[in-house]
Amino acid sequence: MKIRIGFIFGGDTVEHEVSIISAVQAMKNIDENKYEVVPIYITKDLRWLTGNLLKDINSYSDYDLINRYAKEITIVKDKEDYLLKSKKGLFNRTINQIDVAFPIVHGNNIEDGTIQGYLNLLKIPYVGSNILGSSVGQDKVFTKKILETANIKVVDYVWFYDYEYETNNQDIIKQIQTLEYPVIVKPATLGSSIGISLAKNEKQLKIAIEEAIKYDRKILVEKVIKNLKEVNCSVTGNYEHAFPSAIEEVIKEEDFLSYQDKYLAKGKSKGMVSTNRILPANISHEMKLKIEETSKEVFKQLNLSGVCRIDYLIDQDTNELYVNEPNTIPGSLSFYLWENKGKPYSQLLDELIIQTIKDYKNKMKKTSSFETNILQNFNGLKGSKTKLK
Ligand SMILES: Nc1ncnc2c1ncn2[C@@H]1O[C@H](COP(=O)(O)OP(=O)(O)O)[C@@H](O)[C@H]1O
Ligand SMILES: [Mg+2]
Repeated sequence: MKIRIGFIFGGDTVEHEVSIISAVQAMKNIDENKYEVVPIYITKDLRWLTGNLLKDINSYSDYDLINRYAKEITIVKDKEDYLLKSKKGLFNRTINQIDVAFPIVHGNNIEDGTIQGYLNLLKIPYVGSNILGSSVGQDKVFTKKILETANIKVVDYVWFYDYEYETNNQDIIKQIQTLEYPVIVKPATLGSSIGISLAKNEKQLKIAIEEAIKYDRKILVEKVIKNLKEVNCSVTGNYEHAFPSAIEEVIKEEDFLSYQDKYLAKGKSKGMVSTNRILPANISHEMKLKIEETSKEVFKQLNLSGVCRIDYLIDQDTNELYVNEPNTIPGSLSFYLWENKGKPYSQLLDELIIQTIKDYKNKMKKTSSFETNILQNFNGLKGSKTKLK
């Protein structure tokens, strides 16, 4: 029997559409002799839908069509089965069933441990990083702090909360000025370059911070690397093993790699695949080895698994390598970086699912609850004197 894979995508995130593109690419490339594709699309207003039309990218240009033909469901664990139950009508009809969940979601409120937590609670095996890795990887400030303790270089930075800026902006501006202009201002937990801007002086800095504050309560300001080369390396594996992919060099057309550069470079959106890139990157052999080693270490330090992409900034004046950020569920799952290393996309997906099933079985061997019910010998709460420990 085929293994049923529930591809979960969409959600209430600014990267909703990018997630649809990434998921449709994956659903098209999976080996259908071995796996059955079950699309599970979370709309922006958080309805969970399923149906074959959700495998086709053209369906998403007509939401009326989706509302009419896709079925609204909830996932229910029933003994060893994970059922997709219809939400309509008197009876809770089972529409479909999945064996493994494959979240292909990007951004805040979903990629950041949220969907992982939901799947954990239902005990569904799922592809990719656990809650901890996902949430740390989504927060650029936490990521930096962990990498610093592991002696992995990150660009100098200052961070603060919106209320701190709103109550005492002069102190914060002073702190930022120790980095020297130009600086780059980022919402700490977003992606796809949303809310990011460069500032060359105090006036621009204030505008940049106001912009970032629209998206996030936590703001990060970094020193700008002026003579920049940007490279990315994907990693697959789990807590025991990590394997680096080919390394790409990404080319920006604006001051920094924008949403436009990433997803719309060739006019029509194809997700991360449309970014202008040199593959493999134009770097020395030593730099390549350093990136591969660092990528494996970042993967391990941040508790990642599945397929991730680690993004780097190289200062070409000093030849210094800095980790910019991890992407715990990268756009297009970085399949092109694996294809370049000789691994077809279908094989990448196959390996990720096999790894997930193995890791799930190992995890289930660990004790998670006790058979005995300690409450059987519990005499009840005897008035207010009884202390619960
Ligand atoms: N410190 C920096 N110096 C120069 N350019 C930067 C720096 N940080 C980010 N950038 C540019 O901004 C882009 C987006 O920043 P990034 O931190 O990757 O945010 P996102 O999570 O939105 O992708 C990067 O791809 C790069 O082009
Ligand atoms: Mg980035």
